[in-house]
Amino acid sequence: MSAVGLIIGSIHDNLVLDIKSRSQTKTPFGLPSSPVLEVAFGNHKALCILRHGETSNIPPHMVNYRANIWALREHGVRFCIALSAVGTLDPNFLPGELASPEQLVDYTWGREHSFCNGGTDLRHVDFTCPFDKSLREQLISVAKLSDCFLQSGVYGVTQGPRLETASEIDRLEKDGCTMVGMTAMPEAGLAKELNMSYAICAMAVNFAAGRGDGTVGIHNQIERYISKATGCLSRFINPLIAMLDKSY
Ligand code: HPA
Repeated sequence: MSAVGLIIGSIHDNLVLDIKSRSQTKTPFGLPSSPVLEVAFGNHKALCILRHGETSNIPPHMVNYRANIWALREHGVRFCIALSAVGTLDPNFLPGELASPEQLVDYTWGREHSFCNGGTDLRHVDFTCPFDKSLREQLISVAKLSDCFLQSGVYGVTQGPRLETASEIDRLEKDGCTMVGMTAMPEAGLAKELNMSYAICAMAVNFAAGRGDGTVGIHNQIERYISKATGCLSRFINPLIAMLDKSY
């Protein structure tokens, strides 16, 4: 088994995964979005969950984030990278490119966002730095070999599934956000509660609402950006998994 986990978001249709085994895992919080998949990346393996399900039928606000994080932890995952599609507000981070955010702002509501259940296990985890510093450094060190990776960013997490209004994006920008997506919370907070190192490899698949040419992006445009971003990812995913697997 591997201590390296990947949570693969909506881009999973564009990735060819060499699946070696599948484990259906029940958790105290219900079923995860997919079986835990043992996937080979070159000579190393990672344990993967498809966040939106194998048939991409689970929208961001209905993902069982607690079951996903719990299942990975149960399988021994210590380091988890989330591959997550985002819209970009940052002129230095273009659709088709990747980035590692160092901060987030949470605008979600009504999601099951904690493992603390009102019993005796109440803990206020330190969330000053939502993403693991050393995991980000490792991600950045291999990803900078590609020419399409930005080393910073602030991820605004919206509720979805609808996209944002242009004014909502203006507000996010005033709050310091440089990218917008729908899944980093409660995922990052839950990983922190279980003491799992967690970082995001964000993949820009469109300009945020009101940015770029003003439209969020028609479907085939987004497809083009997804394949550009996954092409970029494929240049360093194997060395990344190898590095994390060895560092355990
Ligand atoms: N907004 C929110 N989530 C997203 C976007 C966006 O523009 N693009 C991909 N995920």
